[in-house]
Amino acid sequence: MQVIPAISELRQRLRGETSISFVPTMGNLHGGHLDLVRIARKHGKCVVVSIFVNSLQFGVNEDFGKYPRTLQADCEKLEQCGVDVVFTPTELELYPQPQLVTVEPPLENDLCGAFRPGHFRGVATVVLKLFNIVQPHTAVFGRKDCQQLYAVRQMVSQLNLPVEIIGGDTVREPDGLALSSRNQYLSTDERTRAVFLYQTLAGMRQAVLDGTKDFVALERQAVQELTARGWQVDYVAVRARNSLTLPQSGESDLVILAAARLGQTRLIDNLEVCI
Ligand code: PAF
Repeated sequence: MQVIPAISELRQRLRGETSISFVPTMGNLHGGHLDLVRIARKHGKCVVVSIFVNSLQFGVNEDFGKYPRTLQADCEKLEQCGVDVVFTPTELELYPQPQLVTVEPPLENDLCGAFRPGHFRGVATVVLKLFNIVQPHTAVFGRKDCQQLYAVRQMVSQLNLPVEIIGGDTVREPDGLALSSRNQYLSTDERTRAVFLYQTLAGMRQAVLDGTKDFVALERQAVQELTARGWQVDYVAVRARNSLTLPQSGESDLVILAAARLGQTRLIDNLEVCI
């Protein structure tokens, strides 16, 4: 496995590769990331993983400074997964000047975008830069970050980028909590309570499967239950799975998304439901 921080060297290494599968990450890798790498392995002969904590997608009061940076441990995990190349650019390598040209994906101000202004612009911009640098044939993103996956798919489609986007299923702890780098911010007590986010979504999914059509009432009840248990809720939303817009009546392909804070830690999760 080669670890390459420079764009020019990476381009040289990848020249002539006919089947590149790419997993962009911000490092601090857990089982969810490694699952995406395994999916990438199935789709390409040369697997490239990037590790870059992207300042552009963090708001001023967010956790950019304290985001865990664990490069050596990450590289050991990636080597064991048979990754060919790890791209580890510095801030200066990727943003040598202020990034004036940016990409504004749809729903930039909806769902998580409403609570993290500029976040999806930052994500789409860095992903486009990484695609231009790596030039992958396929790229794998986790479905836990449902809105991010949607934003990337829209960008690829609308800008005619020659890359196939693959969504990897959410990997969960045995109790149901979705794996996330931010889970390690949780105290022992918060970790025990964190599963309630998943349980709330699972309860909503069951209610939808049982025939509930009043999604607004369902959302309101979920917010009340989470708040009563000490969560600060950003949103709980039932949306059409393919567009993330409000479901039309009769819509059968849905996704239930939530973002909420337990103490200082903001967690997101979602569950798909087909009725
Ligand atoms: O999901 C992430 O880790 C990041 O948002 C991504 C896609 C690597 C862009 O910085």
